[in-house]
Amino acid sequence: MRTSPLVVNTARAGLVLRELVEQDAGALHALLQASKAHLTRLGNFTAIAAADLAAVAAELAAQQPAPLSFAVVEGDAMVGRVDLVAVDPPRYGLGYWLAPWATGRGLATLAVLALLEYARDDLHASDVYAGVTHNNHASAAVLHRTGFDRVADMGSYSRYHRRLAPEGATMS
Ligand SMILES: CC(C)(COP(=O)(O)OP(=O)(O)OC[C@H]1O[C@@H](n2cnc3c(N)ncnc32)[C@H](O)[C@@H]1OP(=O)(O)O)[C@@H](O)C(=O)NCCC(=O)NCCS
Repeated sequence: MRTSPLVVNTARAGLVLRELVEQDAGALHALLQASKAHLTRLGNFTAIAAADLAAVAAELAAQQPAPLSFAVVEGDAMVGRVDLVAVDPPRYGLGYWLAPWATGRGLATLAVLALLEYARDDLHASDVYAGVTHNNHASAAVLHRTGFDRVADMGSYSRYHRRLAPEGATMS
């Protein structure tokens, strides 16, 4: 049983990933509400953005054997979220979003790189996959900057893949 939320450092001082726990439900729900138009404008995140507080709390209360969901925290402020999805360990899926006011400064890139390092070193992940709708250029750019390759056209979206480097190597 973990006593306090896990914190994963990024390469930028003051920017960390902090394990999401049930007590974060209010702040996360408020951030989702404030980010709703930004998150849903390309047809993604519609169910997530529509979730009420109870649904957000229930999702965070579901215990995982290891932390997979993290708030992106800048200073004291939650500005987004990154997730690993245990699709078929050691292969994982990846998700990420930022509040609209937190975009344009490289925070998603830094957060994803930190999450990949955590996935490799703590979860012993071998491969990470992500799906991006074709017109989501900002998201595709995050994946290019973090070492993913586009591996398949899935119709409405592209599948991206990154094989993780051996433990000890720097993620860049
Ligand atoms: C996808 C999403 C997280 C990308 O956010 P983002 O801010 O563009 O990505 P980053 O945080 O990595 O920032 C990159 C931008 O900061 C700039 N930047 C500044 N410093 C940087 C640095 N040190 N490293 C990388 N980029 C930097 C880049 O040039 C880029 O600017 P540009 O948009 O003018 O080209 C955001 O658009 C979002 O939340 N979208 C809605 C949810 C979503 O689609 N999620 C993904 C689903 S697959």
